Amino acid sequence: MVGRICGTGAYAPPVFASNEDLENVVDTSDTWIRERTGIARRHIAVEDTAVTMAVKAARQALANGKIDPEAVELILVSTISPERVLPCTACEVQKQLGAVQAVCFDLNAACAGFLYAYNTAQAYIRSGMYKTVLVIGTEQLSKLVDWTDRNTCILFGDGAGAVVLTGEENGRYNMTAHSDGRKGEALTCRTDGKIKMDGREVFRFAVKSVPECIRELLEREQLLAEDIDYFVLHQANRRIVEAVTKRLNVPLERFPMNLEEYGNTSSASIPILLHEMKQKGILKPGMKLVFAGFGAGLSWGASLTEW
Ligand code: UT7
Repeated sequence: MVGRICGTGAYAPPVFASNEDLENVVDTSDTWIRERTGIARRHIAVEDTAVTMAVKAARQALANGKIDPEAVELILVSTISPERVLPCTACEVQKQLGAVQAVCFDLNAACAGFLYAYNTAQAYIRSGMYKTVLVIGTEQLSKLVDWTDRNTCILFGDGAGAVVLTGEENGRYNMTAHSDGRKGEALTCRTDGKIKMDGREVFRFAVKSVPECIRELLEREQLLAEDIDYFVLHQANRRIVEAVTKRLNVPLERFPMNLEEYGNTSSASIPILLHEMKQKGILKPGMKLVFAGFGAGLSWGASLTEW
């Protein structure tokens, strides 16, 4: 059994902050932010929360996959910015969707969170325990950002993305995943505090570890980088994506990006991007996709999916 993605959804709150808006908040400039990150604006949840955004993305994914909420057996939510610690976000989403049969829990692997939740869903499907799984990445990072810290506040945004997986006999899937708690101090946030980051260290880690784990994945599957139709990377920084393309020697066109519009939405970034790719009609049956995530922990990994 392999989980095949049958539906996708995404939601970003209507209010956004442009780089020019941030020029009024910290000592920065549109030029600096664009050149160093590729980001032009980020959406900010004013009325929404991690729960409401997750519900909106999930409803779209279920409708789009023609899956009845009552058919969902497992809901996995990846988030570092829940509205409440208890109950878990997944249970709150379940209530609002009416997915009464589902088992629900949250997981936190920071910006690699969607990838880890996706792998967890695949493991359950592969074991035969569940056949229909909803995986959501949702983040209200604006509440974890220190709006006086120009090193971090320009990077992050709010939003949610969701996919529905159904177990099928045919299809391709494999994964690599890694964690290194020894380097955890590079990117931290206390439960009562704000995000703190050594940007240069995270940057160095990302440009080294992402190509390495993608190569590891390709070797496991005996594939070459040119066999992959699209690399769907966590959207943290345009320069990180460009560095990965160079190290893998793959043209940039095969690395779709949307961080100009959303900034870094942590565990929501991969499913939001995937949903946009689906809406644009660029995903065709049989295409091979590599998802790759990286972030605090440190945690990183890559997964191969057949569309
Ligand atoms: O999901 C994973 C989460 N994190 C990441 O992916 C972040 C990875 N790291 C990065 O994306 C980059 O390191 C940043 C975009 C955060 C920073 O870019 P950088 O090229 O590594 O800049 P830097 O930290 O080396 O700083 C260069 C200069 C410094 O000034 P001095 O010391 O050279 O005078 C900073 O103080 O740029 C300054 N600076 C800024 N200037 C204007 C830092 N932030 C800003 C800012 N506007 N917003």
